[in-house]
Amino acid sequence: MFAVHLMAFYFTKLKEDQIKKVDRFLYHMRLSDETLLDIMARFQVEMEKGLAKDTNPTASVKMLPTFVRAIPDGSENGEFLSLDLGGSKFRVLKVQVSEEGKRNVQMESLFYPTPNEIITGNGSELFDYVADCLVDFMKTKELKHKKLPLGLTFSFPCRQTKLEEGVLLSWTKKFKARGVQDTDVVSRLAKALKKHKDLDVDILALVNDTVATMMTCAYDDPYCEVGVIIGTGTNACYMEDMSNIDLVEGDEGRMCINTEWGAFGDDGALEDIRTEFDRELDLGSLNPGKQLFEKMISGLYLGELVRLILLKMAKAGLLFGGEKSSALHTKGKIETRHVAAMEKYKEGLANTREILVDLGLEPSEADCIAVQHVCTIVSFRSANLCAAALAAILTRLRMNKKLDRLRTTVGMDGTVYKIHPQYPKRLHKVVRKLVPNCDVRFLLSESGSTKGAAMVTAVASRVQAQRKQIDKVLALFQLTREQLVGVQDKMRTELENGLKRKTHPMATVKMLPTYVRGMPDGTEKGKFLALDLGGTNFRVLLVKIRSGRRSVRMYNKIFAIPLEIMQGTGEELFDHIVQCIADFLDYMGLKGAQLPLGFTFSFPCRQASIDKGTLIGWTKGFKATDCEGEDVVDMLREAIKRRNEFDLDIVAVVNDTVGTMMTCGYEDPNCEIGLIAGTGSNMCYMEEMRNIELVEGDEGKMCINTEWGGFGDNGCIDDIRTQYDKEVDEGSLNPGKQRYEKMTSGMYLGEIVRQILIDLTKHGLLFRGQISERLRTRGIFETKFLSQIESDRLALLQVRRILQQLGLDSTCEDSIVVKEVCGAVSRRAAQLCGAGLAAIVEKRREDQGLEHLRITVGVDGTLYKLHPHFSRILQETVKELAPKCDVTFILSEDGSGKGAALITAVAKRLQ
Ligand code: BG6
Ligand code: BG6
Ligand code: GLC
Ligand code: GLC
Repeated sequence: MFAVHLMAFYFTKLKEDQIKKVDRFLYHMRLSDETLLDIMARFQVEMEKGLAKDTNPTASVKMLPTFVRAIPDGSENGEFLSLDLGGSKFRVLKVQVSEEGKRNVQMESLFYPTPNEIITGNGSELFDYVADCLVDFMKTKELKHKKLPLGLTFSFPCRQTKLEEGVLLSWTKKFKARGVQDTDVVSRLAKALKKHKDLDVDILALVNDTVATMMTCAYDDPYCEVGVIIGTGTNACYMEDMSNIDLVEGDEGRMCINTEWGAFGDDGALEDIRTEFDRELDLGSLNPGKQLFEKMISGLYLGELVRLILLKMAKAGLLFGGEKSSALHTKGKIETRHVAAMEKYKEGLANTREILVDLGLEPSEADCIAVQHVCTIVSFRSANLCAAALAAILTRLRMNKKLDRLRTTVGMDGTVYKIHPQYPKRLHKVVRKLVPNCDVRFLLSESGSTKGAAMVTAVASRVQAQRKQIDKVLALFQLTREQLVGVQDKMRTELENGLKRKTHPMATVKMLPTYVRGMPDGTEKGKFLALDLGGTNFRVLLVKIRSGRRSVRMYNKIFAIPLEIMQGTGEELFDHIVQCIADFLDYMGLKGAQLPLGFTFSFPCRQASIDKGTLIGWTKGFKATDCEGEDVVDMLREAIKRRNEFDLDIVAVVNDTVGTMMTCGYEDPNCEIGLIAGTGSNMCYMEEMRNIELVEGDEGKMCINTEWGGFGDNGCIDDIRTQYDKEVDEGSLNPGKQRYEKMTSGMYLGEIVRQILIDLTKHGLLFRGQISERLRTRGIFETKFLSQIESDRLALLQVRRILQQLGLDSTCEDSIVVKEVCGAVSRRAAQLCGAGLAAIVEKRREDQGLEHLRITVGVDGTLYKLHPHFSRILQETVKELAPKCDVTFILSEDGSGKGAALITAVAKRLQ
């Protein structure tokens, strides 16, 4: 009995002595709570640095955006392939995620070796090898006939700009294949897979193992928002608020950040706690100076640290009686699994002896105790450091959420965490001590990365399917060159039909003679009134033209025309107009002055002379009764008479295209075309009299108001009209009419956009599938909003703000789609308009028998003026479709009022 006690006493004493000895020797490796809190604070600073745009480039902790935005919600499903490369084992898997939200995942997998010559050889060979393994797997599992999406778990630091791309920043751990750094590993793998012609695999997602781990655990526990690996390497990811991620546009929701905490300290931030052993280990590694934090923590290094310590202690005579073996001198001879075995609770000491003997040493009882304690200190330090960094992340999460207490789950994986007997317990304990205000659940990822990678791939594949749907809709608006040439040809035919007596009555492009026969010659002069009705604004103007110097002075006032007047009775409309004239005369102090008046009336009128115009039919937003078929000049005269206050001499009625051509023609006599791309769309041009069968005489030219807005009303462009164009048409004031105008002008483009957005929303592709009241409201997308949304200078957030101002609660992804839709619609409009214009200039060139035509187009209209791309695309299209014409575009700065006044001046002279 006494002997037993004596033995026990002896052993305890021996143990104490050894432990004290080692503790003294490794004093520097034992980190106090204060030190851990300090490291935690340092890591918080590092995270900030990595997240901010200006400090990221020099930050050692890279805080990489992963483009994983949400944890699984159970709706994921499908069959996926998955590769898991970069941990201690390389696996290929097939994952089946169940339908019906039952949260059921089935996996089949095979492990493949990663020979050193492959992972440190030529980069292309590495990817070829990975592809070969995948092919082998598909063969074995009889999957080769299937087209499956693939998720790649790639456990190295990659800079991503989207989910399916990742540029390798640097190899870490055991990998060092040449020529891969700074290249996109997804396309590298895709290229290798392409060599297998019979294979159809689409790589949809690249994820870090931490991310995959988090997702795996989140599938079972929705509180999981952190993933930690303590394996061959170490790293962590967590869900960060988008508003804190400078490197990614948008501030909505969260995104997973791969911290790459292994590089913590690479800038010297941890020099005070690194020991001589850490430095020695680093010098002998594949990546000296890099991953300094990882090298104090992870499985690839723990055994080596122990070996270096034992060697030094042996050299100092503190172990093995000063004896060293050659194995102890050999790098890599002690591995992490040895460290784990030596620290086992019961068998630990026996294991230690065995391992040391295997290393060719002859350890005493005391040596074994000391070595075991070295292991404990090294692995304890590892757990402590991990805990400090993790505590920093947890604190950040808690602060982001503005909570006093955080309840959260951390997904864990990695061999150190899994096989080391004391590690998890120590880690958990320290974390809880460092962040007492966090209730943390640690969840082991039983199935490794696979499940999580499949979740990410499932989401990506859903997004891809949705993207395809969106692209399909946008494709309807992408016209081929052939289609545009088709439009040009048909427009040409319709123009000819409108000019010919025989075909005119049925023609959709009315080709209305305007009785304007020449351009201003500079001799015009006098004081005129002008009305400008039918564009965005109704204006009354006073225009003073001085001859000789081509100088014009204008005074104008804008008046509103309320909707109920635009769509009331004709009498009300014209009474309102006269009321505005009276106000203007009053305002200008011109009451009683009998001035000649030019009336810009931007609707199709059949004219028999310059001062007569019978309204054929309202277009755009007007629908006043009892006007169609009436002479608008008469209606204006009668309204003036009804008021019986003043008299005016109405000399000319002019379409806005004609007014615009004249305004521009005053500056550039070569201007023989007037184009409006505004609320409506129309064009006029100077035609040879001999071609105008509706007007007597063959001499000279006359301006023809084409009214090309009606192009297509006979169905000739129905092949390019979409369901959205039809919906816009049906909801308009004039269904079936002005089909070309409805595809090209400001009043309708926003409506087309709105119809597309409604449709995309119905299909769950936008606005979370919710069609808001606002979206149902006609006319919300005015030209000015479209123009703003499409401006290149606008950041996504600003687009989102505009949409929000319009009452559309959109996410950043929504905003991207809305912008694309606007772009597709306005681009098509500009191209169609260009095709129409190309028809005219080509006609003019041929009619004059010219090899080459130089001509100027005077342009007006809010779409042309405000939209950031419309004018450019229009001009490019004309150049493309009418290469023999040299077309100059000049913008009408002064509106059509000036032109109307010039026409009036000429008409007055002729009177
Ligand atoms: C595995 C994951 O379970 O753990 C891998 O599937 C990960 O993606 C690995 O890289 C990390 O641990 P270790 O110890 O294998 O590096
Ligand atoms: C104005 C002209 O500048 O542009 C009007 O003065 C014309 O006559 C108008 O109708 C066309 O553009 P919008 O965009 O106002 O319809
Ligand atoms: C290394 C890699 C990192 C990975 C970790 C764990 O630190 O750089 O991307 O997550 O090892 O495998
Ligand atoms: C409509 C009108 C037309 C006008 C054009 C531009 O198409 O019918 O006359 O020129 O809009 O305002």
